[in-house]
Amino acid sequence: MKKILLTGVSGQVGHALQQQLALELANEWQVVACDRHQLDLTQPDHIRRIVREIAPDLIINPAAYTAVDKAESERELAYAINAVAPGVLAEEAARLNAGLIHFSTDYVYDGTKHSAYVESDTVNPVSIYGASKLAGEEAIRQVGLPHLVLRTSWVYGSYGKNFLKTIIRLAKERENLRIVADQYGAPTSDAAIAKAVTELVTRWHQEDMTQSGVYHLVNSGEISWFGFASEIVAQYHALESVRGWPALAVKAVQPIATAEYPTPAKRPANSRLSTAKLEQTFGVTLPEWSIALNQVMAELAVAD
Ligand SMILES: NC(=O)c1ccc[n+]([C@@H]2O[C@H](COP(=O)([O-])OP(=O)(O)OC[C@H]3O[C@@H](n4cnc5c(N)ncnc54)[C@H](OP(=O)(O)O)[C@@H]3O)[C@@H](O)[C@H]2O)c1
Repeated sequence: MKKILLTGVSGQVGHALQQQLALELANEWQVVACDRHQLDLTQPDHIRRIVREIAPDLIINPAAYTAVDKAESERELAYAINAVAPGVLAEEAARLNAGLIHFSTDYVYDGTKHSAYVESDTVNPVSIYGASKLAGEEAIRQVGLPHLVLRTSWVYGSYGKNFLKTIIRLAKERENLRIVADQYGAPTSDAAIAKAVTELVTRWHQEDMTQSGVYHLVNSGEISWFGFASEIVAQYHALESVRGWPALAVKAVQPIATAEYPTPAKRPANSRLSTAKLEQTFGVTLPEWSIALNQVMAELAVAD
């Protein structure tokens, strides 16, 4: 049986991937899933030792330093996990003739483009987090092994901490929510990512892991954070009586400008990513963002 080494299983994408791979590929792939205790990405020697012990055919690396604002004051740690570690994983994968699927972000772009970004567009991160993720992409490219770098955006799901969970919590506590309305992108569910990546594992491996490169992988469509929050509240209301969820306190979701919600890290105003390359190369498509949200909402527990 072929072996996958999966990192970051306590994270949103790692957790969803562990479930989806077990559901769909258990007959072909053994998945060795690691959290930070089993595989500490701040320790290059430790990474090398663990990868050699497991000897995978494919490494999937959703683990990352994802605290975008905190990264502005924790540059070294962000770079150790997001830039150095992916390069070490790539070197070790190359040694084993294995492939690497790695995740990156819309934050490698500065957001000044007026339409959806394509993979060949100029990158220009405006935050330490974005720069550290870009450095990770470059470290992988330099090793020159079979790889897919999947740039995704605005990740949320029923597991872990994310915008969806925060909005539901705040909507239970407050009558008014003020949400940024001048940043556009595609909210992308961890479940949709996991389903698409599981398809990619099969298709890419069948093609002898050619077609290395960067691909955008996001739910289709676009919305602002304000629009996303409004839809979360609307879908909650549609489900609350059926599911017996507690009533929300919120009466209004109000649009505000980024300037009214200052954060330590700058964020791109335009995070729209075209997925045409992923679709044309591998025939993989992801559902529209509000449909993906609906699927996640249907799985939310009352306690969420
Ligand atoms: N979240 C987003 O909105 C977003 C947007 C665009 C791109 N992405 C990218 O998508 C990928 C998946 O993101 P996600 O939302 O699933 O992230 P997440 O929920 O924050 O999970 C990150 C994972 O990385 C692990 N990790 C952190 N430091 C580590 C270390 N030193 N050693 C080993 N593991 C470590 C975490 O472990 P602990 O639980 O122990 O901390 C956690 O399992 C990442 O590459 C991220 O950069 C995310």
